[in-house]
Amino acid sequence: MADIQALKERFISLYGADSAFPLRVFHAPGRVNLIGEHTDYNGGYVFPAALTFGTTMLVRERSDGQVGLASTNFPLRKQISISSVAFDTEDGWTNYPKGIIRELQLRGVSVPGCDILYSGAIPNGSGLSSSASIEVVTAFALLTLAGQTPDKIEVALLSQKAENEFMGVQCGIMDQFAVAMGKKEHAILLMCDTLEYKHVPFRSGEYRLVIGNTNKQRGLVDSKYNERRAQCEQAVSDLRAKFPELRLLGQLTRDQFNGAKHAIADDTVRRRAQHVVEEIDRVLQSMKVLEQGDLAAFGQLMNGSHDSLRDLYEVTGVELDTMVDAARRVPGVLGSRMTGAGFGGCTVSLVHRDAVERFIDEVGRVYRAKTGLTADFYVCDIGDGVQELTTA
Ligand code: GLA
Repeated sequence: MADIQALKERFISLYGADSAFPLRVFHAPGRVNLIGEHTDYNGGYVFPAALTFGTTMLVRERSDGQVGLASTNFPLRKQISISSVAFDTEDGWTNYPKGIIRELQLRGVSVPGCDILYSGAIPNGSGLSSSASIEVVTAFALLTLAGQTPDKIEVALLSQKAENEFMGVQCGIMDQFAVAMGKKEHAILLMCDTLEYKHVPFRSGEYRLVIGNTNKQRGLVDSKYNERRAQCEQAVSDLRAKFPELRLLGQLTRDQFNGAKHAIADDTVRRRAQHVVEEIDRVLQSMKVLEQGDLAAFGQLMNGSHDSLRDLYEVTGVELDTMVDAARRVPGVLGSRMTGAGFGGCTVSLVHRDAVERFIDEVGRVYRAKTGLTADFYVCDIGDGVQELTTA
């Protein structure tokens, strides 16, 4: 957790101490997805968990209809008028809060003018949902300032809409949902079509979740992501020859898909769809084995997920594959996979607690030797979703 006192001092040095309004502090975590990748926008299951680190937001109302935006992570600062909020590429990170303000206004919320300071502990572009974290904390805080008691699922949905429409990234609901609805020591089984969900205690016993950051700069990720989405839509459209009512790939069982997949004309599109259908099945199998406490079987499913993302969905790349291969060679590792959208970003591995040190050392060394890049590792605990922090 960030040092709130230091952030308050920073806030005052940026915006001044003199105000009739209280300074309030909110927090939203990052997330790691344990299994169920590229299934959310196909109406399938995902199994993410909120992290204990994320984005802290200090906010204080002001009465002149202006919004001050500053971050401890970026030099860029902006002051905008609440009545003219528009996307501008030059405005960099500030487009995220602007997108949320715009979305709230479209929903009839009267967003007050305010000064904001963010402090993010999630490395940007790491695939741990730094964007969803800033969106969700902003939506939750501004709704609270507007006098509402925010519904966290609504917060997730409106944040996703802002990302889709204001930022132009066609992401699914997983990240915003996990960041809003996370629960300490629990992962979330979420059915992305209906938003039915269940908090599942993540009992990892003697094993720890270790995130490995490839630190690979992700280029063109948004366009490749949108391309995968379009390929899934193409698969649905072809499969309607067999299932006229089909809306989403997630509606098909493995058997139904296998019986109908020849209806998909393009070989690449067929492989994309196969990943989605099998990955959803892997999430359901994970629930069974985790209920039985069979972590080794869960590790195997994690491995299967990565291999499918590498071979069928083709969203891994040399950095993620190198890191995962190195991880699986370390004794005490039950499973290792990429997490998030892919094309760089992070891996998540299930590592025996006595092997964590060796894991970080060996994976880091092999990864550097093969890619020339230095990895970062975080041994992670599962934290809570968005909330207002009460600090004296
Ligand atoms: C990104 C998106 C999510 C999800 C994952 C892949 O994190 O924001 O909606 O599609 O990729 O599972």
